[in-house]
Amino acid sequence: MSLRRKIRLEVNGETREGWAEPRKLLVDFLREELGLTGTHVGCEHGICGACTILINGEAVRSCLMLAVQADGAELITVEGLAAGGKLHPLQEAFREHHALQCGFCTPGMLLTAYDLLRVNPSPNEEEIREALSAVLCRCTGYLTIIKAVRSAARRLPADTGK
Ligand code: FES
Ligand code: FES
Repeated sequence: MSLRRKIRLEVNGETREGWAEPRKLLVDFLREELGLTGTHVGCEHGICGACTILINGEAVRSCLMLAVQADGAELITVEGLAAGGKLHPLQEAFREHHALQCGFCTPGMLLTAYDLLRVNPSPNEEEIREALSAVLCRCTGYLTIIKAVRSAARRLPADTGK
């Protein structure tokens, strides 16, 4: 008898379904079952933040959740940031300020910054640093990422985060 369970959730505004063993991590379900490989897997221990996504409006490390726990939830992944063929202002700002090198941390950085700006649309540098400390970057030294987040904050309408 198969232990796989059907999981139905909303990802980036679309209803998606797939199957998962009870022990399957949410990040692996997203990547392997739904083909959403934008969310990266680094440490699998909740340390690096590369797997950060939004679940029901809150930033969560998707390596620390099981797929079955996300059944019925609303998710936003990095694939959901761009809309209508246009990059999200955070993505534009990362591009303009050279806020990525290898790009491994970038999906987690973007979703963490997205979450920050939804809660605090005009963060100061300390607040940006505090939020971004949840994600490890081995390439950039963070300064360009901080600049990018400040720049995106100036462009985003305060009430929507989009
Ligand atoms: S892969 Fe999830 S925190 Fe590192
Ligand atoms: S850009 Fe390489 S880890 Fe951040």
